[in-house]
Parts: sequence; structure tokens; C-alpha cells
Amino acid sequence: MTRLRAEDLTLAYDERTVAEGLGVVIPDGSFTVIVGPNACGKSTLLKALARMLKPKLGAVYLDGEVITTYRSKEVARRLGLLPQTSIAPGGITVGELVARGRYPHQRLLKQWSEQDESVVTEAMRLTNVLDLSDRMLDELSGGQRQRVWLAMVLAQETSILLLDEPTTFLDIAHQVEVLDLCADLHEHGGHTLVAVLHDLNQACRYATHLIAMKPGEGIVAQGNPTEIVTAELVEDVFGLPCRVVPDPETGTPLIVPLRRQRVPVAETLTAR
Ligand SMILES: Nc1ncnc2c1ncn2[C@@H]1O[C@H](COP(=O)(O)OP(=O)(O)O)[C@@H](O)[C@H]1O
Ligand SMILES: [Mg+2]
Repeated sequence: MTRLRAEDLTLAYDERTVAEGLGVVIPDGSFTVIVGPNACGKSTLLKALARMLKPKLGAVYLDGEVITTYRSKEVARRLGLLPQTSIAPGGITVGELVARGRYPHQRLLKQWSEQDESVVTEAMRLTNVLDLSDRMLDELSGGQRQRVWLAMVLAQETSILLLDEPTTFLDIAHQVEVLDLCADLHEHGGHTLVAVLHDLNQACRYATHLIAMKPGEGIVAQGNPTEIVTAELVEDVFGLPCRVVPDPETGTPLIVPLRRQRVPVAETLTAR
């Protein structure tokens, strides 16, 4: 049995259908990465997997049950979502926001425990935001804020993590830091991760399972990146002519766009 899967999903906003007939299996313990061009429905799929969007047709299954049969706190104890854009309440400190990740674990009348405190501290240590604990969230840079949101999701202590573009806004060193943290959670922490990433080369390096989506066609390929990523797939999905060579560091597929075809400079663009 797979803990998280979806069958024959049709996803739509009102009358606007984003994708139809999506079948997704998230292998347990995998680091699954979803790739695809802008607006193809990656965030929409992640929202459906996290029960934030009700499918028009089909169903998402979590631990063998249709996900809508659980109470929302129960879903939040099993699965955490880092949305692509998160809006924080105003006037909140970093430490306060991360502490909100403990909400699904709190019971009525139950005080904040030492356990809560230590989980929050550990989440902030892993994401490198401990020093920012007393700062106001809205004073931080985009990259710092991104790491604080990640800390909040980690503080939720779920074994399944859905991360929508966790590396956007981060410089390359912090991108690698966040991806290495995800790889650690997956290799040593027993977590199942599902992340949307834009960088195909990073996707191929880190993913144990890759899902490629195309606008209007839904999922066009799923599997181990080394087996499924070819120049034909990249050209088909992104319309980008490229070569795929082994990454010199890891041997995973490395996408190298072909050089620009030389065309005569348009008369109107010629500098005078
Ligand atoms: N809340 C919404 N209401 C209406 N349409 C939406 C909403 N969110 C996304 N869409 C539309 O659904 C399509 C897929 O969006 P999204 O899943 O965010 O794409 P991706 O994450 O792959 O860039 C896009 O055409 C987008 O404009
Ligand atoms: Mg998106």
C-alpha cells in the first residue's frame, strides 16, 4: 500500500479545468519532484494532494482512506504543506510563526510543552533561522522568510512533506542547503517528500521519483530521472531544444540548452 496516491483526478477552479485524469502514486519514502512549465497545474496538484482543493472528479487516498474522510487536524498530523505563496499574519515574530506548526498536536486546555519547545528549536536549527527567532517576519528578506516557513512545516512533524517551490527566492548556496536538508529528511528521517522545483538539473540530482507535467495534458512521464529524462522529453514538455549529458558530479541527467541559432538582427533592434 502507498500512503499517498490519487486516482483519476480532475482538478478545476470553478468552470476552469486545469487537468484531467491524473493518476499519481507517491512512493513511500521517496523524494518525489514535480516539474513542468508555468501554469501546467503543479501547485494545483499539490493542493489537491494536501486536501486544500477538492477534486471535481476522482479522489486522493491517504493511508488507504479517501482524504476527505479525515478531520483536518488529523490530515495535518500526517501531512504538511508548504504552499507556493504563504501569507503571514501581521506583527508576528519568526519564533511565533514556527510555533504555529505545533497547532495540530495541541489539544484543548493543553499547555505548550517542553516537547513542543524542543521540536520548534530543532526545526529552526535545521533551517538556519534560530538567530532570527525574535525578528519580525515582515522585516526579513524573501529567502529568510522562505526558510522560516519551511521551519514551520518541519515543526508540524509530519512524515509526509509537500513543498511547493521551496527554493524559489533563495540564492544558489541556500537552494543547495534546503535541498540537502530535504535529502537528509528523506534518507535518514524516513520522510516522504514531494517538492515542486523549477531547476531541472537540481530535480534530476535530488529526485528519486520525477513527475513531469505538461499544460493541458497532465502527467506525461513518471519515474526515476535517470530513466525518463531525455532531450526528447525536455523538448516535448518545455519546448526547449537541448542536450542531456551526465552531470559531471553525480552522473544524473544534466540539461544543457542548445546554443542560440544565429539569426540576422532585426533592423528595428539595430543600435544607431
Ligand atoms: N485560485 C485560482 N483560481 C483560478 N484559477 C487558478 C487559481 N490558481 C491557479 N489557477 C490557474 O490554474 C492553472 C494552473 O495553475 P498552477 O497550478 O498554479 O500552475 P503551476 O503551479 O504549474 O505554475 C493556471 O492557469 C492558473 O492561472
Ligand atoms: Mg505553482
